[in-house]
Amino acid sequence: MGHKRRPPFGLERSKPHFDLRHERRPPPEELGPVTAFAESGAQRLGTLDERYRTFRGDDPSSDGTSQKGCAGFHDHQRVGALVDRQTRHHAAIQFAFDACATYGTHSCARDEIEAAVTLNHFDSEVEGTLRNGVGHAIMQCTTALVLAAEVIHRAMRVAVVGATGAVGREFPRLLEQRGFPVDELRLFAGPRSAGCALTFRGTQLLVEEVRADSFQGIDLAFFSAGAARSRAYAPMANAAGALVVDNSSAFRMDERVPLVVPEINPETMTAADRLVAVPNCSAILLLMAVAPLRSLGSIARIVVSTYQSASGAGAAAMAELMDQTRAVLEGATPEPKVLPHPYAFNLFSHNTPINEHGFNEEESKVIEESRKILRMPNLAINVTCVRVPVLRAHSESITVEFSGPAPSVEAVRARLEVAPGVRVVDDRERNIFPMPLDASGIDEVLVGRIRRDMSHPSAICLFACGDQLLKGAALNAVQIAELAGSL
Ligand SMILES: NC(=O)c1ccc[n+]([C@@H]2O[C@H](COP(=O)([O-])OP(=O)(O)OC[C@H]3O[C@@H](n4cnc5c(N)ncnc54)[C@H](OP(=O)(O)O)[C@@H]3O)[C@@H](O)[C@H]2O)c1
Repeated sequence: MGHKRRPPFGLERSKPHFDLRHERRPPPEELGPVTAFAESGAQRLGTLDERYRTFRGDDPSSDGTSQKGCAGFHDHQRVGALVDRQTRHHAAIQFAFDACATYGTHSCARDEIEAAVTLNHFDSEVEGTLRNGVGHAIMQCTTALVLAAEVIHRAMRVAVVGATGAVGREFPRLLEQRGFPVDELRLFAGPRSAGCALTFRGTQLLVEEVRADSFQGIDLAFFSAGAARSRAYAPMANAAGALVVDNSSAFRMDERVPLVVPEINPETMTAADRLVAVPNCSAILLLMAVAPLRSLGSIARIVVSTYQSASGAGAAAMAELMDQTRAVLEGATPEPKVLPHPYAFNLFSHNTPINEHGFNEEESKVIEESRKILRMPNLAINVTCVRVPVLRAHSESITVEFSGPAPSVEAVRARLEVAPGVRVVDDRERNIFPMPLDASGIDEVLVGRIRRDMSHPSAICLFACGDQLLKGAALNAVQIAELAGSL
């Protein structure tokens, strides 16, 4: 997004272990023994590694002499064995640690190196480190030190409110997988779940009951505990200095609050924003499929019908669908408890209140939020939301009408194929299109059934499926936090 990265969220409190905060690499004269070692290693290889020389500033023009194989710490055989990611991580940790301890000018604790590697901040460098000559390897090693310093410096104290819910449970894994710089993670829920344990980075963390003073020292708070909790506690988190990323509907339509899908409208967020809203899950999934098509023509109208899964109504609704399904298969007629109607082997109109025009609240959210996200306050959009007996991942049948003639199916497919966060699943020959089972647990929104609307010359039709606990909620929230860190 073209913004220069800076330490986010007032992290001045975190003490940097190195004085290298704003530099990716230390200047060569500071490298001392590292430089000497690298140079002698490179000479042993009979060449100076291209990237090493560029780094030194000796010879910016490359003669392509990198990839000379390993010396010093690694031989070819060992490199060949280091194919799997886990092994590469461990090797990288050991390598960086050994090299820094022996040749580094900056001391670096093993856990700090480990943090840099585990957080993926030099994973892409690792292969090069192992394959290239010693000069390059040491350069990578010092780069790793600086990255470690950056990571440690940026590490944040993060809170998840609603950590035991269907959405909340996704956060620890997402933060870990995405290498989000978490210094400390605090998990909050209601009184019911206080004392439960959830796993983060292999450690069991106790869930605490959220209180007014829970946010002292917190830099970033994800809220997924319903609109009432967000209204009550988000201002307290803000007052304590935390950036709030809210999954509830509490602030979405507040014009002062950005409503953000990072792939679609990142520009609506600024570094000054302390409260950012995650849109409604059905709106996110719809717009992930539709927003990229704006480059093919002006959108005049959207018609969408949703097929919404149990997980969209929370952990209790998921349990109800499973319990009811078991009970029905055993010949019983279970009483609905969480949702208003029998759920197993049934479907029903979305379980939210209906307004005077006959639209339920979910439909109204999709309409209003789509208009806000696309900045099209008069967008013609009609929505029908239905709950279906699918455990996880929502599906949507979408018709997009353009102001002029519809773009070709090929143009739509080509556009969606390059849209970030979208995966095209559109195999007409084998009748394979997006399915909620395939969309469950993955980051991308699946889009397919790309076809002309034969009843309208300006319209095309799509079918989309997305994991609304991920892209529709927790993943989008983490992406917002990542975006905030880059502003
Ligand atoms: N599910 C989705 O697909 C989805 C998608 C987008 C947005 N959202 C939004 O995300 C939020 C959470 O939804 P969900 O589906 O994860 O619901 P859920 O499974 O019912 O989880 C609700 C969470 O809120 C906590 N909570 C309940 N009462 C509380 C209280 N008084 N104080 C503090 N925490 C309390 C619960 O803790 P206990 O375990 O203690 O009850 C639980 O952790 C909602 O605002 C929802 O609109 C959901």
